[in-house]
Parts: sequence; structure tokens; C-alpha cells
Amino acid sequence: MSNYHVEPVDRPKALAPEAIKSLRRSQVKGISRRQLLRYSIGGGVALWLLEVTAGTVAFIWPNLTGGFGSKVRIGTLEDVKLANISLPIADGFPAYVPEARAYIVLVNTGRQQFVAGEDPTGDGAALNVRGLYQRCPHLGCKPNPCLKNFWLECPCHGSRYDRLGIKADGAQYGPAARGMDRFAASVDGSGVLTLDTGKITLGPLPVAVGQPGIIPPRTPTGCI
Ligand code: FES
Repeated sequence: MSNYHVEPVDRPKALAPEAIKSLRRSQVKGISRRQLLRYSIGGGVALWLLEVTAGTVAFIWPNLTGGFGSKVRIGTLEDVKLANISLPIADGFPAYVPEARAYIVLVNTGRQQFVAGEDPTGDGAALNVRGLYQRCPHLGCKPNPCLKNFWLECPCHGSRYDRLGIKADGAQYGPAARGMDRFAASVDGSGVLTLDTGKITLGPLPVAVGQPGIIPPRTPTGCI
């Protein structure tokens, strides 16, 4: 046996405390894990803020611009007729106004003008005009006005309403439980109609055909 002992040349040596301190102080090349974590969290928060801001602006934008959800200027009866030149608006046929998501209907066709005043419930009798929300009270489809019978007919499940949005009572006239909803309306001294599409009054209960309160269809069969 010999006491001779060979020290391996590549054996790792412990670092001195000064060397460790200096290594900690020295700048890491590229991005450290800590910086990467900070950047990721910062980026996530910025993205979330951007989404919240964009969503808020999109939500309130119609109210800022006079679009749906706020007051929408429709115009005079003559304006409505001109915009729907091929339709019998003067006879009380519903005119569609996409900006308001509404049908505009002359109530009393014997009087060819809108009447100045305020109508918070959208009944239409005083102003001689009714603004109907385009959404079917059943499940939300858009009823279409039918030129044959002057009624509004929902293509989804067949609910039928007279030209003023009154639901015809009876299963054969579709499943909607009430008439079409109305918007609050106002007409100024020049006969210009404005609908407040932020204020909706629910439509009334159905009325049996032949009873007062519903306008009978012009023809026994409609468009659907
Ligand atoms: Fe109009 Fe069902 S959505 S009848």
C-alpha cells in the first residue's frame, strides 16, 4: 500500500464568497427569468385593460352617436314615405327603419301627418304614429310586414300581428304571448318624429280577430 494520492485535475472547486457576490451583481445576458415573468404579467394586464376599454366604448357608442339604444331621429311622415317610395306607407303599411330597429306605422291614415307631442309609452294614438320594436316577443326573430294582408308575420314560428303590432289571439296565429313592444316617441313642431329606443313599453295581450282593438287582415291568407 502506498500513501501516494493523485488529485484529479478537473475536480470542481468551491467558489470563494467574493466570487459568488460578484456573480450576483453581474448583469445576466439576455432576459432573466424574473424579467420574463414581469413582462408576461405586465403584458397580460395591458391586454386586459385594452379589452375592457374597447368593450366599454363599444357598449356606450350607440348612446353617444344617436344609434340604437338612444334617441333616433326618424323625420317627418313625408321623409318616411320618400325613403319607402315603393311601399303604401300612407295607407298605414309599416316602414322599416334599421337605425332604430323599428317599424314606423301611421296610426290614423285619415290624417297624413305626425302630430306634435310626447308619447312616453309609445301607444301612438296622440302622435298618430307608433314605433314598433323589430324583435318578436316570442323568441326574438324579426317579423316582416306582408303586402297582401298588411299584417306583420314572424318567419320563425308564425306569430302574426296587425299592422300596429297587436298579436292575434289563438294558437293558429302563433305562440307569442303579447303584441310587439313599442318605443317612446316624440314629434316636434315641424312634424319630425324621434324614437327613444332606450325606452321600451311591452306590447299588450293578444286580441281575438273580429274584436275591437285589432285590425283584421286584408286577405285571409298572408305571406307565410
Ligand atoms: Fe317569432 Fe317565435 S320568434 S314566433
